[in-house]
Amino acid sequence: MLDFSAAKIKVINNMDITYERFLRPLFFKLDCEHAHDLAATAMTVLGKMSPVCRVMERLARLPAAARPLEAFGLQFPNAVGLAAGFDKHGTGWPAAAALGFGHVEIGTITALAQPGNPKPRAFRYPAEEAVINRMGFNNEGAEAIARRLARMPGPGKRRIPLGINIGKSKVTPLDKAVEDYLISFGLLADHADYLVLNVSSPNTPDLRKLQDEQRLSELLAALDSANRDRASKPGKTRVPLLLKIAPDLTFPQIDAVLEQLTANHFDGIIATNTTLARPGPFAIIDQAGGLSGKPIRQKSTDIIRYIARATNGKLPIIGVGGIHSSSDAAEKLDAGATLVQIYTGMIYRGPFFARELARNLSARQMRMGGRGW
Ligand SMILES: Cc1cc2nc3c(=O)[nH]c(=O)nc-3n(C[C@H](O)[C@H](O)[C@H](O)COP(=O)(O)O)c2cc1C
Repeated sequence: MLDFSAAKIKVINNMDITYERFLRPLFFKLDCEHAHDLAATAMTVLGKMSPVCRVMERLARLPAAARPLEAFGLQFPNAVGLAAGFDKHGTGWPAAAALGFGHVEIGTITALAQPGNPKPRAFRYPAEEAVINRMGFNNEGAEAIARRLARMPGPGKRRIPLGINIGKSKVTPLDKAVEDYLISFGLLADHADYLVLNVSSPNTPDLRKLQDEQRLSELLAALDSANRDRASKPGKTRVPLLLKIAPDLTFPQIDAVLEQLTANHFDGIIATNTTLARPGPFAIIDQAGGLSGKPIRQKSTDIIRYIARATNGKLPIIGVGGIHSSSDAAEKLDAGATLVQIYTGMIYRGPFFARELARNLSARQMRMGGRGW
C-alpha cells in the first residue's frame, strides 16, 4: 500500500531543499526589506486562493493522534506561530495555516499610520543567521487595518488564531502612551483572538521605558479596565491580553513585570523581542536596531526558563528568538513555553519551515506520550 505520510514528508523535504539551494540565493541578492516585501506579497496572493490554501493545509495536517494545544482559552492546532513584524498590515495572515502555522500575529500596529524609519532599515548577516532591523513600526494605522480586518474572516471563523500586536505611535509622547494604546485597542479588539502590547521594540524612541514599573502599571491597568468594559457589553467577551518583552531586561526587572501582569489579569507573555546587545562578532558591527536570529536564541530561552520558574508554569509563555531548527523549538518548550514563534529562522530556512517544526514537535509529543510538545 502507498504510504501517503512518507510521500508527504518527501514533498516537504524537497521544498525545503529547493528553497535553500535555489530560492534563498536569489532572495539574498535582494536587499532584506525588498525580499521581505516580495515574500509578504506572495503570502497575500496565496491567502486569496482559498482552494490552493486548503490543499496545502491538508499536506501540512498533523497525524490525527496529535492533540491540539490550549492557551489563554484558545485552541491551537500546533505550537508554531508566525511572529509579529512579518505581516505588519494584516494582509497575508489568511495563508498562514497553509504554510503550516498554528497561529499568526500581525502588526505591530499603531494608532496613527506611520512610514517607519528611513531605508535601508533591515540587514541580513548570513554567516550568523541573523538580522538587524530598525523598521520603526511602519504600518497603515489601526483604523485602516481594522477596516481591512472587518472584510476578512473574524474570530471563530478562522483556520487558526490571529493575534494582533499593538505599539505606540512614534509622534505620541510617552506621557500620552496609554491613550494611544487605548485607541488601537478600541479599534482592533473586535478583530483579535488575542492582543499583544508591544513595549519592547528598540526602534521607537523611549518605547522600552514603558517596561518601567510605574509606567507599565498604568498601561496594563488601563488596558485591563478597557477590556473589562468591553466584555460587559452585549455579545462581547474579554480578549486575552499578552505583553511582549525585551531580552535586555534583568531578572529583577522581569520580576517587576510579572507582578504587574498578575495584578492586572494579563493572560500571557511573549519572550522575547529583538536585542540591543551585540554579542560575539556583532561587537564591531555599527548598525543601529534590534538583533534577531541565532545569536539571541540562548538569551531568549534563559528568560523563558526564568519566567516559567518564577510563575510556577502558571503564566502561558510564547517563546520566540533564534529558532532555526526543531531542537531550538523543543528547547523553548522544555524551558516552559506553551507556544513558539518564528521570524528570522524563516528567512534562512524558507516558507515551509513552520510546517517542518510543527511536524517534528508533534512527533516528539507523541514519543513523550502526550506530555508537552
Ligand atoms: C524585520 C523584523 C521586523 C520585526 N518587527 C516586529 C514588530 O513590528 N513587532 C514586534 O513585536 N516584533 C517585531 N520583530 C521581532 C520578532 O517578532 C521576534 O520577536 C524577534 O525577531 C525574535 O525572533 P526571531 O529570532 O525568530 O526573529 C521583528 C523582527 C524582524 C527581524
